[in-house]
Amino acid sequence: MVSIGGSVLVPNNDDSVYIKQLAHTLKEISAEVQTVIVCGGGKIARYYTGTGRELGGTTYQLDMMGIGATRLNAELLRIALGDSAHHTVPCTVDETVKASLTGKIVVMGGTEPGHTTDAVATMVAGNIGCKRVVNATSVDAVYSNDPKKDPDAKRFSELTIKELSGIVYSEHDAGRSSVFDPLGVKLAMRDRIDLLIIDGRDMDEMKNAILGKKINGTAINSQ
Ligand code: UTP
Repeated sequence: MVSIGGSVLVPNNDDSVYIKQLAHTLKEISAEVQTVIVCGGGKIARYYTGTGRELGGTTYQLDMMGIGATRLNAELLRIALGDSAHHTVPCTVDETVKASLTGKIVVMGGTEPGHTTDAVATMVAGNIGCKRVVNATSVDAVYSNDPKKDPDAKRFSELTIKELSGIVYSEHDAGRSSVFDPLGVKLAMRDRIDLLIIDGRDMDEMKNAILGKKINGTAINSQ
């Protein structure tokens, strides 16, 4: 199970080159492991939710546009995967569970209003009995503080899920966007799903994380 941030998939910087590389890596791995990828909305989601907010949109309306953006991004990766991908972008956890039984790589975006794609990834993992969610992000690990602003920020190579939960809730209080959706952390804790936070642009990391090998990012143990 992989949750890939929109800021990694479509930062507007040679995106097709990266998406091709990612598709190649996923195809290589797919012989060894069944993979489901949940794509985030990135800048496109932020554009629509921001503009919709200025126009007085409700939270429900903004979330629905955010979900639309995540599904557009999912469609890009699905196109790059060609026949290796399931033929549609599932819209619900149930549809994803069914699609995963085909043995094809399943690519999806959001499901329903009220959470983010990180939470979707843990929901799907809980339903298909997957014990590992890889969070492919634009940072290379979890830090105690924003490393761009605080040169003394501590980098974690391992954390317990309880420790991560402390970090995401204090981030939330400070109004920062979280390294992993707090609802996703809660679900991972409940269903004992390990989280692996990695640099999504590093294909070796991506492979190692999906295959359960050692990573350079942060491994979060849910046990
Ligand atoms: P993202 O998962 O991309 O959220 O969904 P994010 O936290 O902004 O992502 P990063 O920072 O790129 O990782 C974009 C928006 O779509 C809506 C929410 O409004 C979310 O903020 N959304 C997404 C839902 O309402 N439900 C979903 O299942 C997924």
